[in-house]
Amino acid sequence: MSNPLLQTHELCKTYRLGRVEVPVLKGCSMHVNSGEFLAVLGSSGSGKSTLLHLMGGLDRPDVGGGEILHDGSSLASRSARQLDRYRARTVGFVFQFYHLLPELSVLENAMLPGLVPGGVGAVEARKRAHELLGRFGLEHRLHHRPRELSGGERQRTAIARALANNPDVLLADEPTGNLDVQTGGEILDLIQEAHQGGLTIVMVTHDQRIADRADRSVQLIDGRLQPS
Ligand SMILES: Nc1ncnc2c1ncn2[C@@H]1O[C@H](COP(=O)(O)OP(=O)(O)OP(=O)(O)O)[C@@H](O)[C@H]1O
Ligand SMILES: [Mg+2]
Repeated sequence: MSNPLLQTHELCKTYRLGRVEVPVLKGCSMHVNSGEFLAVLGSSGSGKSTLLHLMGGLDRPDVGGGEILHDGSSLASRSARQLDRYRARTVGFVFQFYHLLPELSVLENAMLPGLVPGGVGAVEARKRAHELLGRFGLEHRLHHRPRELSGGERQRTAIARALANNPDVLLADEPTGNLDVQTGGEILDLIQEAHQGGLTIVMVTHDQRIADRADRSVQLIDGRLQPS
């Protein structure tokens, strides 16, 4: 049998605030198979963003605090260059609060991942960003700044950016958290379309109804994951 696309094994993450230790993840084990749409459900502060950042290679677990496996191999065993490639090509990240760069246009924001080490390069990224933004109904906004966009348009731009390098898996952090119900529904439709096109998705949310859109969901409670 083939390996899961992504797997976490007994993942632990503790934040340190001065001398106070705040354990957030206390042994999180889960997997997502290629082509699957998985939701991680958890209340505010349960550690959903923390978990997703670790899975995206944006932060590291505690020393000795478990591991993240991609196609069966641990991220901890990879060189800096291999990790750049993982962050650029394997995962696409949709942040909880958009994180669009205010001085760049919609098109420039969306093509940005193509320019980082391991990315697809400027020419390909521009082409792909343009195509994705068109598909997401933003053809007429390409040269606008993020502040000139609605919340839904900002999130569409952020999703186009996450897909600019044609990743294997989309890691989406509360992608509808800042949107009204209808706009949030449209964003979920767009994510579901990408999933139907073959993309693997891990989406974190505090909302059961949103988690119900996934193939399967797990719940983050007291620093551990359990089937929901
Ligand atoms: N950089 C940090 N330093 C210290 N504590 C942190 C840091 N990031 C997160 N925390 C703490 O870790 C816990 C989990 O935070 P996290 O952002 O992962 O939760 P979440 O489930 O994503 O919450 P929300 O639904 O509100 O987005 C919280 O108690 C938070 O205060
Ligand atoms: Mg969060």
